[in-house]
Amino acid sequence: MLKLGVLISGSGTNLQAIIDACANGTLDAEVVLVISSKPDAYGLQRAQQANIPTIGLTREVYNSQLAADQLIAERFAQAGAEYIVMAGYMRMVGAPILEAFPDKVINIHPALLPAFVGAHGIQDAWDYGVKVTGVTVHFANAAYDEGPIIAQRAVEIYEHDSIESLEQRIHAVEHELYPQVLQLLATGRISIDEHRHVRISNPNSAA
Ligand code: GRF
Repeated sequence: MLKLGVLISGSGTNLQAIIDACANGTLDAEVVLVISSKPDAYGLQRAQQANIPTIGLTREVYNSQLAADQLIAERFAQAGAEYIVMAGYMRMVGAPILEAFPDKVINIHPALLPAFVGAHGIQDAWDYGVKVTGVTVHFANAAYDEGPIIAQRAVEIYEHDSIESLEQRIHAVEHELYPQVLQLLATGRISIDEHRHVRISNPNSAA
């Protein structure tokens, strides 16, 4: 059973999708600790309802980004987390986390990377007028929204769409894709090759 530490900042709908997938058996994993960069994030309540330990960090903790990242890395290690899952975490993950969990920090981004990086991926794609956007799950590295891409799903933008209807479809895709990717990790099917490209093995050749 893969042990996951989850980082959030907000509503935690992706966290909920992961909790639900663990509960219904489609994801062979367990969320061992949820850390939020905001103490009042609704996602913390979702975790508590599922009896998952939580830590809500205050703004003051982030006065030193280094100390905050050291604390986060330490707590996840103590909780036995094997992978760190960023689920709407609105801060950078710094060296202390990336070094403690090398190639084991995953992020979800609501656009098709490398397009529309940053905190407003859905809005930026909408404002640009693209006809196709989507969702990307990738390994996190020291640069924002970079790192080897694990999976992407396209989401079309229709004539009758509003930003709200587009947001809804993107979130629905996220909630399906994130647990699926985590299940690939849980079954040992994801690796990074010499070009730093992600390879996904077929089920029979899994380690
Ligand atoms: C998601 O759209 C995710 O892609 C982005 O932040 C949002 C988080 O939503 N990084 P939630 O907190 O999981 O509801």
